[in-house]
Amino acid sequence: MNNRKIGISIIGCGSAAPQNQLSNQHLSQIVETSDEWISSRTGMKTRHISNETESLSQLSAIAAQNALTMAGMAASDVDLIILATSTPDDLFGSGSKVQHLMGATKAVAFDLTAACSGFVFALITAAQYIRTGMYHNVVVIGSDLLSRWVDWSDRTTCVLFGDGAGAVVCQGTTGGDRLLAGALYSDGSLNDCLNLAYQSQSQSLVEDITVQSGTYQPITMNGREVYRFAVAKVPEVIEKAMFQAGITSEDIDWLLLHQANQRIMDAVAQRLKLPQEKVLSKIAQYGNTSAASIPLTLDAAVREGKVKPGDIIAASGFGAGLTWSSAIFRWGQF
Ligand code: ACO
Repeated sequence: MNNRKIGISIIGCGSAAPQNQLSNQHLSQIVETSDEWISSRTGMKTRHISNETESLSQLSAIAAQNALTMAGMAASDVDLIILATSTPDDLFGSGSKVQHLMGATKAVAFDLTAACSGFVFALITAAQYIRTGMYHNVVVIGSDLLSRWVDWSDRTTCVLFGDGAGAVVCQGTTGGDRLLAGALYSDGSLNDCLNLAYQSQSQSLVEDITVQSGTYQPITMNGREVYRFAVAKVPEVIEKAMFQAGITSEDIDWLLLHQANQRIMDAVAQRLKLPQEKVLSKIAQYGNTSAASIPLTLDAAVREGKVKPGDIIAASGFGAGLTWSSAIFRWGQF
């Protein structure tokens, strides 16, 4: 079972977004804000918002199918599906539903929750299964519908988030490892900075016994604190991965960060001495789509012909937990 010569190649990507778009102008009709404030502070212009007929499972399955088509692989060839999400259709997990919608009858599927770091956490997790030889073809999906959990009267958060899904197909290979390095971190002492927290309501059952039957509360975030954290930790975790991979920033073709704020992306690029042209960004069109933002942005860049086979990509996710992560990989088939 343990074959250390098995490496990973990432051979397909895909994405999907809901049809409806909510622009900065729309938002200025809902809360006291403006296109000028949102664009200059975040780089966002519009975001996609799901309607009642669009589920997380459906969008995830479409993104995965698109990735499989690019990879030239049938759904029946998939061994494992990891769905990174914080907003499943079902709190028990949506991975199995996605597996069914894809028709990936042979695959086992499960959810992984690490908020905006979810996709990178799932990619590194997939790599462990592939390198040990347990699974060969793995679909990693990052998908979130945070619009379900936004307080639409809170201008400090409701302008930031959008919905979407992105996916990649990873395959085991004995021709070298294209996932060059990865690093994952958590710091729960900063947990209060960003929450979608359960709030219980006591309900008395019988004498002396109560149950806590509540619900989840909308997203709350200390934006300034998370901003400071991201600008400090993201360059550090990418530098660690570069060291592990034996490369310098000059070797990096593309910087692919979680799309939380254009200013964060620019600051990280500057710290790593990477020119602006190497920063992949789709934040203007999609806003912050949480676990979807990295694969969605990758997919757009690949389909635009920007990212080419063999290019080295430094990806980093960060967010609630707090969590932060990086993965350095070469894009495409051998
Ligand atoms: N429109 C107009 N004014 C606003 C808005 C708005 N939408 N939101 C806040 N303001 C006001 C504030 O009230 C404040 O006013 P004051 O100075 O009178 O108090 C002023 O604008 C500045 O507020 P800041 O919070 O300092 O604005 P900042 O420049 O920090 O931008 C932002 C806020 C965009 C949230 C930024 O802090 C940020 O991007 N933080 C990081 C977010 C992030 O990375 N999240 C992680 C991923 S998400 C996840 O894991 C689910």
